[in-house]
Amino acid sequence: MRIVQAPANILIGKSEIVIQFDQKLKKLVKEMIETLKNAKDPEGVGLAAPQVGLAKRIFVMNTQSEKEKKPHFEAFINPTIIKKSSFKAKKILEGCLSIYNVWGYPKRSNIITLSYQDLAGKQITRIFEGFTSVIVQHEVDHLEGSLFTHRVIEEGKDLYKIDKDINGELELTPLDL
Ligand code: CO
Repeated sequence: MRIVQAPANILIGKSEIVIQFDQKLKKLVKEMIETLKNAKDPEGVGLAAPQVGLAKRIFVMNTQSEKEKKPHFEAFINPTIIKKSSFKAKKILEGCLSIYNVWGYPKRSNIITLSYQDLAGKQITRIFEGFTSVIVQHEVDHLEGSLFTHRVIEEGKDLYKIDKDINGELELTPLDL
């Protein structure tokens, strides 16, 4: 699947609830996971349905923990964050597969509780912490039409691009907005 690039209206619209838990949904999720796995620049950790042109409340992400060696991709249908810790997550540089080479540090909660459905429609409540919690918050934002860049700008912070300096080292350069 092709990943939609900003600016595009689908990226700033609200997505619709999924009602049918059928083969079509399974196929869609499978294709989204393939698309995410194939994203290498930057490496994809999460992908929301609007990013592949569908205004549906679905995202896929790599839920691999620090202890696990292999990536592990899962689908989250109709996700809602039902609780957010007041503790802020440590600074994690965020980017987005729909916004080429733009990076920033939006405010995120360290621990969240997510209510969602799996591919069979089963209702699940699950707690996420740290890096995976930040990805979930980023992906749920996509379903509301909110991009991490909007948050960074609202918070009055800088967005960056990543460049190579003369020694070939990666460095963050603030963008002129
Ligand atoms: Co994104």
